This record gives sequence, structure tokens and C-alpha cells, in this order.
Amino acid sequence: MDDSETLEKIYEKPGAVWTKTQPPKELVELVETGKVKPCKTVDLGCGEGFYSIYLASKGFDVTGIDISEKAIRYAKQNAAEAEVKIRFLTMNITDLHKLNDKFDFIFEWALMHHIMPQQRQKYAADVNRILNKGGKYLSVCFNEKSHTFSGPGEKHRESGERAPGLKIYFSSLEELKTLFSPYFRITEAKLIEVPSVGYEKPHTENYIFMEKP
Ligand SMILES: C[S@@+](CC[C@H](N)C(=O)[O-])C[C@H]1O[C@@H](n2cnc3c(N)ncnc32)[C@H](O)[C@@H]1O
Repeated sequence: MDDSETLEKIYEKPGAVWTKTQPPKELVELVETGKVKPCKTVDLGCGEGFYSIYLASKGFDVTGIDISEKAIRYAKQNAAEAEVKIRFLTMNITDLHKLNDKFDFIFEWALMHHIMPQQRQKYAADVNRILNKGGKYLSVCFNEKSHTFSGPGEKHRESGERAPGLKIYFSSLEELKTLFSPYFRITEAKLIEVPSVGYEKPHTENYIFMEKP
């Protein structure tokens, strides 16, 4: 999972291939319908911080975490330009157990496919530890049926020319449900289409919205 050097290269300049300045419609829907209300929130794998900024602009108290120092530097600049206050931390998600804070909403968009299966049990336990009872958790990552990169059927893929060197794991919805269900009540689990950059088809991604009982 620790692709930190590769990630620093990808973040050599701002505007990584996956960075979008506008929040995904699925996040907007959760906020606009009140399924997630302004609360203490952590954005895991926040990248250049635009989704953290969206949440902060809606009144959320946001901490953004990413392994890449450069991404966090851009995120801080972007938040300053947007005139919102966000706490950004450079941290490897494998160190999540060191975080003393607890949150009411965990937002994790496109991080899970960087976490390899052998690291996921610890990750799920750590995420559970930092979520308050009654807290919500949205996890979105590549589904194994996605046609992007080397095509469907292979679980481990190279990320291709646009983000060279990254190893990515494509999950099924079932394996994620199995991973998270010991800790969380699954409110909604489905496949979604997420616009891709430079591919004919959108990405097929797992969407799992959960609550801690
Ligand atoms: C595909 S990007 C998504 C970024 C952001 N959530 C977005 O959607 O724009 C994945 C992010 O996870 C971060 N990441 C990957 N492995 C990580 C790890 N072990 N610990 C913390 N962050 C990690 C990367 O640096 C990158 O910013």
C-alpha cells in the first residue's frame, strides 16, 4: 500500500489525474438530503482537498488526511484560497491507530483501492475505532467489473500511463460488505459510475454507505 514515492511524483505539480474541483454528486446528495449533517468529519486520502473544502463550506468541521506531503501542501493552499478552515495532516493510513480523534462522519473517496487485501482487516478496525457511535461512513473505490486500466477480471492492476507505478486493487461489493459488516450497519451498497479522465467509459465503483450502531 505504501506507494508514497510514486504518489509524490504524481503530485509533482498540482492537478493529479484524479483531482476534481467539484464534489461528486453522491457526496452532494448525502449532504443536501441531510443523510449526513454538518459534524466532525475526516476525509481519508483527501488528495488536493477539494472535497474537504466542499464539506467545510457546508459547515462541516473537517480533518483531511493524505500520505502525500505535496498533496497536503496543495490542499492547504486550496483551502486558504477558498477561505475555509480545515485541519490537514500528512499521514499514512497504516498509522491511523495513532490518531486520537473521533469523528461523526468518515468520508473516503478513492482511497480503498490503494489498500491491499492483507491490510484491510487492520484498516477496518482502525476506521471503526475513530468513528463515534451513530457515526456515518462513506467508502467509494474501484469495482472489479470496471473496464478501466487493464480491463475487468484482474483484481490487481497497474494504474496505467496517467498515474504510472501505482498498484491498485479492484474489489467486489461483496468482499467490502464482508469486511465492514462486523463493525457497521450497511445502509446502502451499490455500484456507481464515476466519470473518468481519458477513458471511453466511466469507472465502475463500489459505493458503501454505513452507520456505526
Ligand atoms: C485516487 S486519489 C483520490 C484523492 C481524493 N480523494 C480525490 O478523490 O480526489 C487517492 C489518494 O489517496 C492517497 N493515499 C494513497 N495511499 C495512501 C496511504 N497509505 N495513506 C494515506 N493516503 C494515501 C493518495 O496520495 C491520493 O491522494
